[in-house]
Amino acid sequence: MDTSLRRKRTLLKVILLGDCGVGKTALMNQYVYKKFSEHYKSTIGADFVTKELQVEDKTVTLQIWDTAGQEKFQSLGSAFYRGADCCVLVYDVNAPRTFDALNTWHDDFSRQADLNNPEAFPFVLLGNKIDLHDGQNLTVVEEKVKEWCEGRGNIPYFQTSAKQNYNVEEAFLCVAKIALENE
Ligand code: GTP
Ligand code: MG
Repeated sequence: MDTSLRRKRTLLKVILLGDCGVGKTALMNQYVYKKFSEHYKSTIGADFVTKELQVEDKTVTLQIWDTAGQEKFQSLGSAFYRGADCCVLVYDVNAPRTFDALNTWHDDFSRQADLNNPEAFPFVLLGNKIDLHDGQNLTVVEEKVKEWCEGRGNIPYFQTSAKQNYNVEEAFLCVAKIALENE
């Protein structure tokens, strides 16, 4: 097959994971539709949207799977995780228990996704709702976050706000880049 043709269209499967209410759907809607809603409607099951973007000389299509943070839907996991190119973990910088839950999300994903090389699989971490933070000490200590990322093979980390569209574009560009590298 002509590799130049194949290279022109790259589909990257990206999974958003994290506790309910951290802003997975809001981040996706901001990134793909440039829209934000204050209204919280919990995701049920999982669904995807696609977005095309340019990474250096390549046009790639991100297929972004938005999942439900609610525990009762977690059994849907493995069917959705299979074939993923990147996993985006999201927590709320103002809610420590959503950070504490990251180990479970990370490990469940790694186990269920049936990865060829789990150590090399690309994750990205987003600390969302930074706009709600009052500028004093963060509830989830940044040192702890960085340590966690280092301990998991240097996971790239972004503070984001889906509401104010802060770092959303940058984070998903990073997602696309490291997903491409891992292809
Ligand atoms: P589940 O679908 O239940 O897993 O939750 P989710 O992670 O998809 O959360 P969702 O995106 O639905 O956001 C939950 C609530 O937080 C909504 O009311 C959003 O408006 C709000 N929210 C999301 N992101 C932000 C943000 O960056 N800043 C602020 N202030 N609110 C946010
Ligand atoms: Mg949701």
